[in-house]
Parts: sequence; structure tokens; C-alpha cells
Amino acid sequence: MANKTVTLTDNTTGKSIELPVMQGSVGPEVIDIRSVYKELGMFTYDPGFASTAACSSDITYIDGDKGTLLYRGYPIEELAEHSSYLEASYLLWYGALPNAEQYAEFVDKVKRHTMIHEGLKDFYAGFHRDAHPMAIMVGIVGSLSAFYHDSLDVWDARHREISAYRVFAKLPTIAAWAYRYSQGQPFVYPRNDLEHSENFLHMMFAFPSEEYTVSPVAKRALDLILMLHADHEQNASTSTVRLAGSTLANPFAAISAGVAALWGPSHGGASEAVVNMLETIGTVDQIPKYIEKAQDKDDTFRLMGFGHRVYKNFDPRAKLIRTACYEVLEELKVEDPMFDLAMALEERALKDEYFIKRKLYPNVDFYSGVIFRALGIPKNMFTVVFTIGRSIGWLSQWNEMLQDDEFRIGRPRQRYTGPVSRPYVPIEKR
Ligand code: ACO
Repeated sequence: MANKTVTLTDNTTGKSIELPVMQGSVGPEVIDIRSVYKELGMFTYDPGFASTAACSSDITYIDGDKGTLLYRGYPIEELAEHSSYLEASYLLWYGALPNAEQYAEFVDKVKRHTMIHEGLKDFYAGFHRDAHPMAIMVGIVGSLSAFYHDSLDVWDARHREISAYRVFAKLPTIAAWAYRYSQGQPFVYPRNDLEHSENFLHMMFAFPSEEYTVSPVAKRALDLILMLHADHEQNASTSTVRLAGSTLANPFAAISAGVAALWGPSHGGASEAVVNMLETIGTVDQIPKYIEKAQDKDDTFRLMGFGHRVYKNFDPRAKLIRTACYEVLEELKVEDPMFDLAMALEERALKDEYFIKRKLYPNVDFYSGVIFRALGIPKNMFTVVFTIGRSIGWLSQWNEMLQDDEFRIGRPRQRYTGPVSRPYVPIEKR
């Protein structure tokens, strides 16, 4: 069969060009538009990149209509049932599930990188006590390049791997310390006898003065949340990491750009925004008022935790977290009226014509706050935990990009709509 093409015709000049169509292993075909500017002198226009594939990737696949999410070909539901965050992280970075020996080595290596340079501790003191922990994360992650500059050659696979271990293993420590600082509490050092999620909870909540045991339910729930957030193909923060990394910026700088992008309430900041929204709604009887506000085009209010650029069906991560919410609340014997409110809001929105027509379903962030609250994680740490989980996705995508034969610096074009050729007027004549 001849290679598939699509013809693009400029109706003004009559000039036509043939554009090759590329296939992925699954998912929509992709029109290769690289020759359009050269041949027709035009750019393509796609605000928000809603129709544009910016790269090829082997890592994560989403089918938004079916509500499918695959990490390296494995359905998220299977990984959630059988695997762990660290095993999924190995899978994302190395491309295959580890055998027992590889896994043990990986876990050991991660543990050997959890400490952060003592000099970095002083950086925390530069932040105001009430600084948002995400502000601290952006700063401290970026500053890692000033401490670990012995492995910053992005063309060296070994350097990339060492830097990746450093980011991945140190993020929970950096994150927990951001919280401790905001509380005026002593920093708790990582413990290598603990598992990854357990270690984070230990650094968040333990005191040097007494024993602290992490609840197995909390450890398991956090591990699941981290796994569900580990990667999500070319979302805003991952694309930011790729774009920053495409300039050959060092990995710590590129990842801190991703942390900044994740912070926004349209992205990873949504879980915090969901709880803020539920607090504002307050009671079930107020729900209709807020459903109405969400539909009013003159009102900036949106139902946080609802809608997704790719999922036009239930977010599969949301389904898993929703189930986990019931389990965690029951096992920890927590009664949270906010969960009841969230369920009532979900039920009402899913029956509403506005949300049905636009295929707006709850996303992962609609429920994660309920689990975080049950684990005692404060609202302003929700996105920080998401950052820990997503770090492996960012790193894997950055690593893949640097090995791509078609790699180029990311440099979008524009349709200029500003003034053309204005003569300069001296200040005294304006
Ligand atoms: N509440 C009310 N209306 C909504 C919502 C919402 N949460 N989300 C989308 N819409 C409406 C839009 O107003 C628009 O309506 P229109 O066609 O009448 O103009 C339509 O649905 C399509 O919305 P877009 O903004 O074009 O969708 P887009 O793909 O650009 O945005 C986004 C996706 C940002 C996630 C959006 O749905 C949103 O703001 N949701 C709330 C924030 C949120 O939960 N973000 C977390 C996403 S998951 C994650 O990042 C981990």
C-alpha cells in the first residue's frame, strides 16, 4: 500500500502539497506538517496545541474517549492493582518492568539519593514562613543544579540517569521539608529502612523526640496516588519540561519549570482548588447555585476537578481514586462531610445537561483531596504531593526527548496581530 498522504491546497494560488501521514502504534494518525511553511509560506494555527502532536513518544498513551491510560502499554488499572509506585517509576524510566534483582537495585539506588545537601537547608530560611510550599519547591528544585553540577551533561546518558535519580529521590525530602518549614518544625531526615511513600509521610509527620509509625493504610493510599500521577503524556507541565529541556537547560532547571507549570489551578493545582471550592459551597443545598455559576459565561467560576483536555469520558485515575476514597475513609475510620458534599456535587453535575453535552466528567483531582485530608496532608501540600508523583514522568519524557533523532529546540510560531511599522515619537511629543 502506498504511503498515506493528505493534500493541502491553497485555494488562492491553486498550489497543492502532499503531506505524509504518520501512524503511531495506536491512536489517531498524525499529519506531518513540517513542510507547510517551506512549501506554502504559511504557519498552522492551533492555540493550546489541542490538535498538534509535538513529539513521538513510547511512554504513556491515553484514549480520552474510552477513558484508557497506559504506562508503557500496561493499563493503569492493572498497575494500580498489582504494582507499586516505585515499580511503575522503573517502568516509566527504563521502559520495561524490572525483575526482582533489578527492582532491588533500583530501590536501593533511590534510597541512596534521598538526602539533600546540608547547604540546601539554609535556603528554606530565605522563604517567608507563610510561603506556599509550591513556591519553595520551584526554588529549591531549581537550586539543585548549583549543588549537583558534576553530572549536567545532557548528552551523556549516565549523567542523565544520575541527575534523574537525584531529582526523583530528593523530591520527597524537599517537599516534606517545605511543609516542616512552614510549620516551624524541625526537619526530619529520610530513613532508608522505610519504603518510598512511608518515608515521605515519616518526614512530614515524625518528631525527633518520639517514635512515629506510619499507618499501612496511609502508606498504601499515598503510593496509589503517586502511581496514578506518575505520567500523563504531553500535559502542560510535561510539555514545559520538554520545552525548557529542549534548550539544553540542565535537568534541575527543566524540572523546576515543570513544577511551576503544575502549580496552576487548571492543572495540578486543581486538587487544592477543589477543596477550596467545596469549602466555599459549604452545604448540599448550595450546590444548585454553584452548578448555575459554572454555566454562566459571565462568571469565571468553574467546577474545579471537572473536565479534561483529553478525557471525554471518566478519567480512569478518578475511578481508582474514588474507590480508594471509600476504602481509606472506612479503614481510617474518618468521617469527612466534605466527601459527602463532593459526592452530592458529582451526582448533580453528572445529571446536568451542560456537563453531559460537553463531556465534563470528574478528573483525578476531584477526589484526591479527600484522601489527602484523611492522611492529614494539608491543602497547600496537595500539589506538592502531585509534584513528587509526576517527577518520574517529567524525567522519563525529558530523557526520551534527548534521545529522539528528530529532537530540535521547541520554538512555536505565531500569528502576529499587532501594529506594523509605527514611527517612533519622542517622549516630549507624546
Ligand atoms: N466547569 C464548567 N465548565 C467547564 C469546565 C468546568 N470545570 N471545564 C470546561 N468547561 C466548559 C468550558 O466553559 C467550555 O464550554 P463552551 O464550549 O460552552 O465554551 C467547554 O467546557 C470546553 O472547555 P475548555 O476550556 O475549552 O476545555 P479545555 O480542554 O481547554 O480545558 C480544563 C480543560 C482546563 C481541565 C478545564 O476543563 C478546566 O478548567 N477544569 C477545571 C480545572 C481542573 O479540574 N483541572 C485539572 C485537570 S486534570 C490535571 O491537570 C491533573
